[in-house]
Amino acid sequence: MKILITGVAGFIGSNLAKCLLDKGHIVVGIDNLNYGFMRNVESMKDMDNFQFIMGDIANPLILKDVHADIVIHLASQKIPRYTNALRTLDENYLMLRNVVQKCIYDKSKIIFASTSDVYGKNPNVPFSENSDLVMGPTTVKRWAYALSKMYGEQYIIANHDEYGLTYTITRFFGSYGPNQNLTWWGGPQSVFIEKAYKKEPIDIHGDGSQTRTFTYVDDTVNALLACIENGKSDNEIFNTGSKPGGEISIKDLAILIWKLVNGEDSVPILNFIPYATFGNYEDVMRRVPDISKLCSTLDFKPEWDLEQGLIKAIEWQKQFMIK
Ligand SMILES: NC(=O)c1ccc[n+]([C@@H]2O[C@H](COP(=O)([O-])OP(=O)(O)OC[C@H]3O[C@@H](n4cnc5c(N)ncnc54)[C@H](O)[C@@H]3O)[C@@H](O)[C@H]2O)c1
Repeated sequence: MKILITGVAGFIGSNLAKCLLDKGHIVVGIDNLNYGFMRNVESMKDMDNFQFIMGDIANPLILKDVHADIVIHLASQKIPRYTNALRTLDENYLMLRNVVQKCIYDKSKIIFASTSDVYGKNPNVPFSENSDLVMGPTTVKRWAYALSKMYGEQYIIANHDEYGLTYTITRFFGSYGPNQNLTWWGGPQSVFIEKAYKKEPIDIHGDGSQTRTFTYVDDTVNALLACIENGKSDNEIFNTGSKPGGEISIKDLAILIWKLVNGEDSVPILNFIPYATFGNYEDVMRRVPDISKLCSTLDFKPEWDLEQGLIKAIEWQKQFMIK
């Protein structure tokens, strides 16, 4: 198959591209390198079945000459807590509109990267795909990201209804592993790993009791692979997460990472930052997926435990710590 990946030089895009190329697919990847890195696609750059296009997906012309069977739309603005809510709303819409129009014109399927953040403040975990999406007030800009993805999901389904667009929507739950962004852009793991290596205080937002589940990137990629290869994924939404039972508080995550880096006897240094420091901010207190639909529909089985995956991520990140 010929597969177009938007955001190929990012974390999930580069891991997915490598896997697809190894399986013999043709991959065209686009990225403007705003948040991705050429080092992530370095090993693929000279492969015959890989083409890299440097450009902005918000510009419709960038897609003009690319024709693919499936488009995996990963490129995104994220975390308006640290960046610009307006840019998140604008760019995520513009990119998606271009990709959707292209898919309708070329009769390609779109696989859209949505997020666990769409469940927002819903306290009823685990979330199934039909759970309510509970947003906070529009004056809290962190919801702009979740809203842009909710809008994206609705936009895709509306285009399915109107124009027969074939889609799969994947709601990712905290993916981590090699090629992850080394800043908060990539989530807490890489930042915690760096602090642990340097034996510096790990910043924890609030009291650290908020919980998450995390997915090692090989499981994320295998779930995407199932969405690409299995027709039963057509026109469905899937929570894409790890093995049941992986819920962990952010405080315990920091302690686990510290001990994996520095040894069981080392005492972690944690620095708790009150939420008020972030201004008008709201956190999600629990985030746990029900992934039974993904497992039963697509015969998917997550393989990785958190500790096992963190050991791999720490090993990968070591190269940046030595420099
Ligand atoms: N990583 C996770 O845990 C996670 C969780 C939930 C949802 N997601 C979603 O999955 C997708 C991939 O996440 P990721 O962690 O790999 O992100 P990432 O930031 O590492 O990768 C996204 C890539 O898209 C590129 N990009 C952004 N805007 C672009 C534009 N206008 N034109 C061209 N390229 C552009 C960036 O340069 C980057 O390389 C995103 O849509 C994200 O919202 C990820």
